[in-house]
Amino acid sequence: MPSLQGQAALVTGSSSGIGTAVAQSLAAAGAKVGVNYSRSADEAEVVVADIRAAGGEAIAIQADVSQEDQVQRMFSQFCEAFGTIDILVNNAGLQRDFNLVDMSLADWNLVIGVNLTGQFLCAREAVKEFLRRGLVPERSCAVGKIICMSSVHEVIPWAGHCNYAASKGGVSLLMKSMAQELAPQKIRINSIAPGAIQTPINRDAWETPEALEALLKLIPYKRIGVPEDIGKAAVWLASDDSDYVQGETLFVDGGMTLYPGFESGG
Ligand code: BGC
Repeated sequence: MPSLQGQAALVTGSSSGIGTAVAQSLAAAGAKVGVNYSRSADEAEVVVADIRAAGGEAIAIQADVSQEDQVQRMFSQFCEAFGTIDILVNNAGLQRDFNLVDMSLADWNLVIGVNLTGQFLCAREAVKEFLRRGLVPERSCAVGKIICMSSVHEVIPWAGHCNYAASKGGVSLLMKSMAQELAPQKIRINSIAPGAIQTPINRDAWETPEALEALLKLIPYKRIGVPEDIGKAAVWLASDDSDYVQGETLFVDGGMTLYPGFESGG
């Protein structure tokens, strides 16, 4: 596993699901980790305790990433605890699924606010700190790294989820535009696009044998993903092993984006 020794990493929305696995994987690679949560303080404290029990360093920090003042307070607390930030994982995200005609403006705004605006607000604060601090060559050859948690739905349209798909489509070009703008400053920005990963967000898709069977028809590799699949990808993208990777989306989806409907058709 590549080393992130001595680096400080903030993982938004890491009190559950993919975020927890990313926080644990970064900590196992030697990073000091901020476990951000919005409402689940107890769950975040469990993640922190697990990381500490495994010999790592972690703190829990509350903030709703869609709120500018809370994001700024989170970065102050994080930098006070760890001195600076080297890695941001923009992971916090949620779903509020409705058909278009039943979707309220509040459901639209909530999803766009957390999944897209939240990534902008956190990236902006991280970049300010990267530029203030500058390069620390003994820690990393980049001035800072940002990983945006996207989804296969940054390219796959998703009926009944247009707020979510729009947010992830937005993350795709937010990430690429930031990557283009900040590459000259040696700030690396990339995305991970998970497919179906077994977490609470998609419980309905794997909970019963019938649901799982239907889901596996969409996955050429014929297994549902586990959060650790994403944790490992995050460690690589945050490390100098991927130093020449900039503005890319790494799909970690068992082939979900390979148009599995064409396995036997077309
Ligand atoms: C969604 C999951 C879904 C997966 C594949 C993810 O971005 O959050 O609910 O299972 O995409 O469709």
